[in-house]
Amino acid sequence: MNAPIGVLDSGVGGLSVLKEIKKILPNEQLIYFGDTANVPYGSKSPSQIRLFVFEILKYLKTQKVKAVVFACNTSSAIVLDKAKPCFDFPIIGVIKPGIREALKIMKAEKAGLFANNVTVESGVHDKLMQEMSNGKHGIIGKACPDFVPLVESGLIEGPEVERCINKYLAAFDNIELDTLILGCTHYPFLEKEIQKACKNKIKIINPAKETAKELAQILKENNLENKGEDKKEDIYCVSSNPEKFKSTASLLLNKEIENVKLITF
Ligand code: DGL
Repeated sequence: MNAPIGVLDSGVGGLSVLKEIKKILPNEQLIYFGDTANVPYGSKSPSQIRLFVFEILKYLKTQKVKAVVFACNTSSAIVLDKAKPCFDFPIIGVIKPGIREALKIMKAEKAGLFANNVTVESGVHDKLMQEMSNGKHGIIGKACPDFVPLVESGLIEGPEVERCINKYLAAFDNIELDTLILGCTHYPFLEKEIQKACKNKIKIINPAKETAKELAQILKENNLENKGEDKKEDIYCVSSNPEKFKSTASLLLNKEIENVKLITF
């Protein structure tokens, strides 16, 4: 089926998921939506975030999307279950795929979670991990509010980033961890630095790959794949400042991003 797939986030973070989707589904057209007028979601209330995400979903529906990926843990934690029954296309999130990936390798009782305040406070990662491991494993979360502004400004390495990572990692100092889930899609852009700071003692989980695989599976099951029909160019939409998005996205994806549209509600 030759229709686009929507990919949404508060800003540039969801591009870490888009990157993986493009690798395994090169025939699909993506409409990325970065809600840059409202980033960071981590400092908003759950009810505000629900309103923002529903507006984006309504817009994506007008674009006739055949599926939507919440490339955003915050939305996956607090909007996904409410949104699914309201739309007639499949919607998938990033939390379950990340937990699945962590459970494949972790031996310690708990996995660490770096995420924003709203996601950590929601407790959704812990709840799902408990459910998916029959109560064997759980999560210890640490809110990292400084990471999103760094990534949004394109700062992904250097002393400031290192200081910030070490500050947040200190929360796990006295805890036996072998796995750390990046529970915000902005953080994979800091993955190299986070891995360096963990000195290979902890395996970092970026849920993006597993999310892309789940999307591919869902397209297949619902017979929604684009089977060789002409693929249209990807489109990037933002709710403010397209120029800033264009330059940061180009830096993060390592290629020139065109086609950035301003959509306001
Ligand atoms: N990248 C999003 C997430 O995965 C949102 C981060 C934010 O805006 O606080 O949670």
